[in-house]
Amino acid sequence: MTNNHLSGKPVARLEGPDKVSGIAKYAGEYPAKGLRYGYVVNSIITKGKIKKIDTAIVEAIPGIIKVFTHENRPSLAWFNQLYSDMDAPPGAPFRPLHDENISFNGQPIALVVAESFELARYGASILHIEYEQEAFHTNLQANLQHARKPKAGLASVLKPPPPKPSGDFEKAYAKAKAQTSATFTHGYEHHNPMELFATTVVYEGPGKLTVYDKTQGTINSQLYIGNVFGLHYKNIRVISPYVGGAFGSGLRPQYQLFFAVLAALELKAPVRVTLDRQQMFTFGFRPPTIQHTRYGAAADGKVTAINHEAVAITSRFEDYIEVVVNWANMLYPAQNTLLKHQLVPLDVYTPVDMRAPGGSTGVHAVESTMDALSYQLGIDPVEFRLINYSDTDATKDKPYSSKELRQCYKEGALRFGWNERQPLPRSMRRGNRLVGYGMATGIWDVFQFPARAEASLTKAGKLRIKSAVTDIGTGTYTVMAQVAADELGLPLDQVEVLYGDSALPFSAIQGGSATTASVAMAIRGACEGLRKQLIRKAKSLSNSPLADAKPEEIIFTNGQLVLKHNPALHMTLADIAAANNGKPITSKKFTGPDLIKWRKYSRAAHSVSFVELEVDEDLGTVDVTRALTMVAAGRIINPKTARSQIIGSMVWGISKALREESIMDHRYGRFMNANLAEYHLPVHADVHDLEVHFVEEKDDIINELGIKGVGEVGLTAMPPAIANAIFHATGRRINKFPIKVEDLL
Ligand code: MOS
Repeated sequence: MTNNHLSGKPVARLEGPDKVSGIAKYAGEYPAKGLRYGYVVNSIITKGKIKKIDTAIVEAIPGIIKVFTHENRPSLAWFNQLYSDMDAPPGAPFRPLHDENISFNGQPIALVVAESFELARYGASILHIEYEQEAFHTNLQANLQHARKPKAGLASVLKPPPPKPSGDFEKAYAKAKAQTSATFTHGYEHHNPMELFATTVVYEGPGKLTVYDKTQGTINSQLYIGNVFGLHYKNIRVISPYVGGAFGSGLRPQYQLFFAVLAALELKAPVRVTLDRQQMFTFGFRPPTIQHTRYGAAADGKVTAINHEAVAITSRFEDYIEVVVNWANMLYPAQNTLLKHQLVPLDVYTPVDMRAPGGSTGVHAVESTMDALSYQLGIDPVEFRLINYSDTDATKDKPYSSKELRQCYKEGALRFGWNERQPLPRSMRRGNRLVGYGMATGIWDVFQFPARAEASLTKAGKLRIKSAVTDIGTGTYTVMAQVAADELGLPLDQVEVLYGDSALPFSAIQGGSATTASVAMAIRGACEGLRKQLIRKAKSLSNSPLADAKPEEIIFTNGQLVLKHNPALHMTLADIAAANNGKPITSKKFTGPDLIKWRKYSRAAHSVSFVELEVDEDLGTVDVTRALTMVAAGRIINPKTARSQIIGSMVWGISKALREESIMDHRYGRFMNANLAEYHLPVHADVHDLEVHFVEEKDDIINELGIKGVGEVGLTAMPPAIANAIFHATGRRINKFPIKVEDLL
C-alpha cells in the first residue's frame, strides 16, 4: 500500500527547463570526433528510371568523401528484405537505393557525404542525374475507377476494417423522415514537427553502432537497423531522449536513418544525416480522401440509417490503412448501416499515421452530417446527439468499458454558454461579422501495448525506473515519474526515470495515444514486485522494527515503510538500501492489455468541442474567437500535460479546418508548397481563447490504473465543430478542408 498522490497533479514537465534552455540535445546535435555529414539527393521525377548518376565530378571536390547510390550500395543493406517496421502497413516497404527505379517524386536516390553539411549539400546540388521518365498518376479524383479494398495485414489488428453491413440501408434510408447526403474532401497534410528528421550514427567498431535518432520508438529503429543491415541487435543502441514533436512521422524509421547507418558502416566513421524542411515533404503524409455520407433519421430524431464510404490514396508498394468510416456507428447506434473503405494506389510515397489517423478525417464527415441532419429536423445539435446517445458500441454490440460522453455534452454546453446560441443560421452578428456557434463529438480508440519496465531501489535509496520508451513532447517522462513515485510513496525528487534508449526494457512505438497506459502499467507492475522485495528485505534485517509486521499492513510513504496501525514502527528506504551492501534491489515486469477482461467490452475515449467563430463576409476570413473541449479519457495522471495535448489538438483542429494543406501539382507529381511559408499553419494571431476540461471517468476494465490516453481524441472533434460553426454563421455548408477565404466569398 502507498499513500502518495502525485497522480492527478498538474506537475510541470520535468525536462522543460532543459528544453527551453538549450541543454536538451536532439538527434542532430550529438557531437562525434571526425563526424561526417550526409545530404540526401531526392528524385525530381515521379516515375521512371535513373539512367546515369555522375558521381565522379562531385567526389573530386576536396572535402567530399563519397557519393552513395544504388550502384555502389553495399550488398549487406537489405539483408532481410521482408522486414519493415512496427508500424508497417501490408505490402513491401520502400527500400532506399535498392535499384534504379523511381516510384515517387522526392524519392531519395543518393547520399553525398562530406566533411561539412554545407559541402555535402553543395555536392548534392551539382550531382548530375539522367532519368528516363514514365507516365504517372497522382490524382485521386482522376483515378477513382481504381479504388479497391485494402489488403489485410497485421496492421488490421489495431486498424480494423469496417464492420459488415447491417439491416437494409437503402430501404431504411428511403423510408427515413429526414435524409441528408454529403461529400467530404480532404487534401494532403504533412507532419511538420519543429525538429527535423536527423540521425547521428557513432561507429563503435565492426557491426557496432550507437545511433541518435529522431524517432517515436528506439527499439523500432534498433530492429530496423538489425534487419536491414544484418547486424546483431545487441550491438546497436538507439538513443532518443528528446524528440521535438513527430505526430506520427516517427512511427516508421525514416530514410535518414538508413542513409546515416549505411554511410557509417561503409566509411567506418561517425555520420550525421539531417533532412531539411523541404525534405520533410518527401515521405509520409495524411492521405487525401473523398468521403460520401448518407444518413437517415426518424421524426423523433433517432438515426436509423448510416452509409459512410471513403476512398483514400496509398502508394503502389504498401496498402496504408487507417480507420475512417467505423466511427459513426460507434457513436450512434443505427440499425441499418453500410460502411466502406477503399484505396486508390498512386505513384506517391506511402502515407504514414498522422495525429488521429482516420479519426480526424472520418469524424469530420460523421459530425458534419449529424449537424446537417439536426438542422433538417429542427433539433438542437447537442440535443440531437443526446437523442442518439448509446452506452453500447453498435459496431460490436458490446457495452463501452466506460463512457462519460453525456457529461461532456452537458457540462460543455453549460460552460460554453451554448444556450445563448440563436438556432437559425445567420442569426448572430457582431458588427459586420457573422457569428457562428458549432459543436461536434470526438472519439478515439483506446489501446494498451505490451511494455516492460524495471524498477530498482538504488544504492542511494532512490527509485530508478527504466523503459526504452520515448517522450515525443507529450509529457511521458513526467507521467512515468508521477506513477512511479506514487507506487513507492516517494516525492518526485526521489525518482529517477531513464528512458529513450533501446538498451532499456522493451517499449513499442509511442503512438495511438496509448503510451501512458502501456508504460504506466509496466511501471506499476515492476514497482509492485519491488515493494514485495523491499518488505521481505525489511522484515529480514536484524532488529527490524517490522519483523513481525504482516506485509499487507506495511505502507510506503515519504521514503519509509511504516506499519499502518503503529507509525512508530518504520524503516527508511535508505536504511534498506544501505543494508543491501550497496547493491540495488531490482524488479522487472512485462505487461500488456488484459484481453480476457476486454473481450466483453468496446473501448474508446470521447470528447466534445464547442466553437465560437466570426466570419467576415466582405473578406471571407474566419476567426475562431473561442473554443472549449470536454474530454472523457479515463483517469488523467497529469492534467497539465494532458491539457497541453488537447490544446495542441485544438490548434491543429483550427489548422485542419482552415489552414493546412500540401498542394500537389499533378503535372509534376510534386508538392508545390513544401515549406512553412506556404504550408499554412495557425499563428498566435489565429489562436484565441482555448479551454479544456476533463470529466471524471472511472474505468477498471481498461487497466488497473484506469488510464485511457489523451491527445488524438481532441483532434477528432475540433475540425467538424469549426465547419459546423461556419454553417451556423453563414448558412453555407462547406465540406472541403481546409475551408478557404474564397469558399466564403
Ligand atoms: Mo500518433 S499518429 O499515434 O504518433
